[in-house]
Amino acid sequence: MTSQNGVSTPAYFKQPIEGADPTVLTDIYLAHTNMVIWKRQLTNPLAQAAKTILAERPKLKTAMIVSPQHTIEALKDALGNTPSVTLLSEDIAQLVEMFCCLFDLEDVGLRLTALDSAMCPRFHVDKVPCRLVTTYHGVASEWIADIDANRNLMGQTDPQSKLIKSTEDIRQLNQGDVALLKGELWQGNEGYGLIHRSPQLVDNSLRLLLTLDFVNN
Ligand SMILES: [Fe+2]
Repeated sequence: MTSQNGVSTPAYFKQPIEGADPTVLTDIYLAHTNMVIWKRQLTNPLAQAAKTILAERPKLKTAMIVSPQHTIEALKDALGNTPSVTLLSEDIAQLVEMFCCLFDLEDVGLRLTALDSAMCPRFHVDKVPCRLVTTYHGVASEWIADIDANRNLMGQTDPQSKLIKSTEDIRQLNQGDVALLKGELWQGNEGYGLIHRSPQLVDNSLRLLLTLDFVNN
């Protein structure tokens, strides 16, 4: 960090990375990034399964610790053994496997949540090493690149209007995208956590959000 007139600014900006192949996720280890996005389109059956689960369970809130081998079984126990749950669970199990493989973990903290309002409506950084985020249905998370942020204003009382230089700089993930968000607890990423927020939901719409976390930060 450098300091000018008592205001700290980052010495350089972290760059987001994206790609259409899941191997792009390994780029999270690059020091110059704080976000990697695997751009993907959900298959129609998977998108439909997410929609069906949301319709059946609009208040869904599931939190569990799972290993790759037991993810499908654990989700079926929690959500019921339906064709929609099977399809979604198989996809989630693949993401759990990737997350564990990427970070050499035996299990992960999994949250699958139906949202009818913005869970974290203000821009913030997460105090975790790295979080996987994907939206199976509905509008997805908003974020801003380092170069577009006034980081020195993080945590102040009205950060939303000042933290970003322009509302045009707000970027948004798409349904299906799999993003790895580096947080403040990633070694060497202190002060550079990816700035993001939950999107506003309109007209009674719902989101189905999956997050994966390290079990012990
Ligand atoms: Fe967050």
